[in-house]
Amino acid sequence: MKYIIGLIAVLLLVGCAAEEVKQVELPEQEVVKELESNFITEDEVAKHNTYEDCWVAYQGAVYDISDYIRVHPGGASDLQNLCGETSLFEEQFFEQHAMTKVDVLVKEGEYKGVLK
Ligand code: HEM
Repeated sequence: MKYIIGLIAVLLLVGCAAEEVKQVELPEQEVVKELESNFITEDEVAKHNTYEDCWVAYQGAVYDISDYIRVHPGGASDLQNLCGETSLFEEQFFEQHAMTKVDVLVKEGEYKGVLK
């Protein structure tokens, strides 16, 4: 008897789980498009390599730091040379600062998207 009750419980659970799986819908095409439009390639970042138009990548995200460059306490020249850089920027940033400066980067930089 216990065996039969157990079997019924298992069947019910499996049935509910299957029902839940059915309810999950694939994202709409529009959502997928929007997500893709958020990706930025290294080549795109590399185009923004000047003092006036300076993009960098840090931990997989791309930031426009054109405004921050002017007020950076460590000066503009080090930063300017890294405009348009992805992995090199991250390397230099790590070398020069404690992790707390990441907050400043995220706050002061303008988030552009995800590095592809
Ligand atoms: C957007 C990215 C960056 C942010 C938000 C940032 C932020 C800061 C801040 C808040 C300081 C003040 C000193 C401190 O609190 O430690 C500083 C100093 C400094 N930064 Fe940056 N920094 C960035 C990128 C860089 C890069 C890429 C370099 C070098 C390649 C660099 C080199 C320096 C140097 C040399 C100082 C002076 C350090 C000192 O006087 O102790 N920074 N930075």
